[in-house]
Amino acid sequence: MIPEQTVEQIMNAAVIEEVVGDYVELKKSGSSLRGLSPFTNEKTPSFYVLPAKGIFKCFSSGKGGSLVTFLMELEKVNYPEALRMLARRYNIEVEEKAPTPEEIAASTAKESLGNVVAWAQKWFTEQMQQTDAGKAIGRSYFVERGFRDDVLDTFLIGYSPDSWDAMAQAGQAAGYPAEKLVEAGLCKQRDDGSLWDFFKGRVMFPIRDVTGRVIGFGGRTLSTEKKVAKYFNSPESILYNKSKVLYGMHLAKPAIVKEERCFLVEGYTDVMAMHQAGVENVVASSGTALTTGQIHLIRRFTKNVTVIFDGDAAGIRASLRGIDMLLAEGMAVKVVLLPDGDDPDTYAKKVGSDALHDAIHKDAQDFLQFKAKLLSDEAGTDPLKRADMIRSVVSSIAAIPDTIQRSVYLQSSASQLGLSEEVLGAEVAKVLHAQSQAAAKRSASGRIPSPQGTPPTPTSPPPAGGEVQAVDRIAPRTSIENDLVRALLEYATDMVSVRLKGEEGSEDQLLDVPFAELVIHRLEEERISLQEPLNQTLVQRFSSELDHERILTAEQLAQDNDVGVQQKVAGAMVQQHVLSPNWSQRHKIYPTVERDQLMELLEGTLRRLHLMDLRTASEEVSAKLKEDGLSLEMERDLLAQKVHLDTQIRDTLAHFGTVILP
Ligand code: CTP
Ligand code: MN
Repeated sequence: MIPEQTVEQIMNAAVIEEVVGDYVELKKSGSSLRGLSPFTNEKTPSFYVLPAKGIFKCFSSGKGGSLVTFLMELEKVNYPEALRMLARRYNIEVEEKAPTPEEIAASTAKESLGNVVAWAQKWFTEQMQQTDAGKAIGRSYFVERGFRDDVLDTFLIGYSPDSWDAMAQAGQAAGYPAEKLVEAGLCKQRDDGSLWDFFKGRVMFPIRDVTGRVIGFGGRTLSTEKKVAKYFNSPESILYNKSKVLYGMHLAKPAIVKEERCFLVEGYTDVMAMHQAGVENVVASSGTALTTGQIHLIRRFTKNVTVIFDGDAAGIRASLRGIDMLLAEGMAVKVVLLPDGDDPDTYAKKVGSDALHDAIHKDAQDFLQFKAKLLSDEAGTDPLKRADMIRSVVSSIAAIPDTIQRSVYLQSSASQLGLSEEVLGAEVAKVLHAQSQAAAKRSASGRIPSPQGTPPTPTSPPPAGGEVQAVDRIAPRTSIENDLVRALLEYATDMVSVRLKGEEGSEDQLLDVPFAELVIHRLEEERISLQEPLNQTLVQRFSSELDHERILTAEQLAQDNDVGVQQKVAGAMVQQHVLSPNWSQRHKIYPTVERDQLMELLEGTLRRLHLMDLRTASEEVSAKLKEDGLSLEMERDLLAQKVHLDTQIRDTLAHFGTVILP
């Protein structure tokens, strides 16, 4: 359990746009911030944060609510874990009492693994900075390679002692059970159950997720022996999913956003060397082939990628596929080929920071031109090889989802290859056609009917603003209720004047009350109950707080224990702040004048709801009147009810809203 006081401290410190900004590039849009949803792979931003309200709303996934809910959804952690993540982010100490067995059982496997890994990182760093062997072997290795101390600190570099069980001993002494050390990949277990250190005698590169939390390690050998694997890496775990992690991303984010470009390099040391040379918008895929998960991670922050190759041709060929994937995900890709087989690390050390800057910025070339040239040179004049090469370029162009971008590439590649644009264009069209046929076949066999007459266009983005369309589809009653609840949330604490009818002979009285109080009071007075369950819950929340003379606010409700309530509140608030032009179009009410019309809005809504209730009742009576076998008495009774209801329906308009000042 985290003490209540600490929870409060965390909540006060946490700034929603900062934390969400760790995951999403947010751009200002009116009073809100907008970006690409981290929950889906949307290409048009429909993810909103309202800083003033402390809420987010994602229209492509429907998720919404408080910052804590955001972390729980995105990081797949539970409530206390989300709080601890925030505490870490804001350097708030969470009193870590020795956990009780119950607490250990309750904390998820993910959290306990995270704890072991976090402990291990500190231990490795301590070994490098504070032990004689660490300084003499680990640190001096980096010093010889020319790395500065501040860069080693930034990357939390460490050293694993050249001992079979130093970590195993220290870990168990610190209270981490053998199975956790093994699960985290720090130790291996022998048949007799004893542990040995997996990273023995290596320098350690902590691998961190997008928020900076350590989730695994790469350990580099110091031996030059060819047979020894240069790197050992942590195994995949519930914490560490290799295909979704890019080395250096959490440090690179701000620079990527600022520079509107991400450099992609191969290795840990390349990322560090680029940092040392003053280039911070750089990440590495760490030896694995690029995955779509990694591309989506980059795309949250920029569409522009520059891939930096070291000069080895086999390596470049192997990377071409990964780059085609970048194109297919809609990224604009450039490449830099460093000379003489240098990688950014060796190159920077050879030529210095300025020359490195020049090389990666000025010498960057468009990827497709680069690919065409590379393959063209390789193919020489051999017609079969040239045909292969053209096919390969064509498939890259066909992979580009954006039509305009595609035609730009078509032009430049055609001239590069000495082909006419028509010929190359026809080839691309063939590939696209084959793809759409295959897609149609897939959707037909999957019994998802493709829209008739229109050929499937895999390149067109999904329609934006799903929620707005969905709103139009909801029942009229719910839609009216939603508007009322939205006004209730938005103006809950605003004071409004109501006129109290005076006693016989005395004057009417004016009274200022919070809008929320008026709404609850009027709903009770008119005996109108909202029908949509979440609307009901919200009114209930306001009502019971009013009993304690407190007025709830949207901000408070955005932190409600009920995630459904959070989502409802977030949706309503974003609807107000972000989609309001749309909203006002539908309702012919302009939000700027809405405040002045609050009373009219309330009374009008009550009237409409009341009318709906009356109509429903009247229809029910009519239906009963049509039933067979009614006694004369019953029929007369029902008729009387119907006349009464219909009169009420007619009278409602006239009798509503007379006690309220406009
Ligand atoms: N890699 C790996 N396992 C290996 C070799 C490489 O996981 N046996 C990964 C590492 O993430 C490494 C990247 O591939 O950072 C690039 O490999 P390489 O260029 O060989 O290593 P560098 O990072 O350049 O390391 P150094 O500069 O120390 O040689
Ligand atoms: Mn290297």
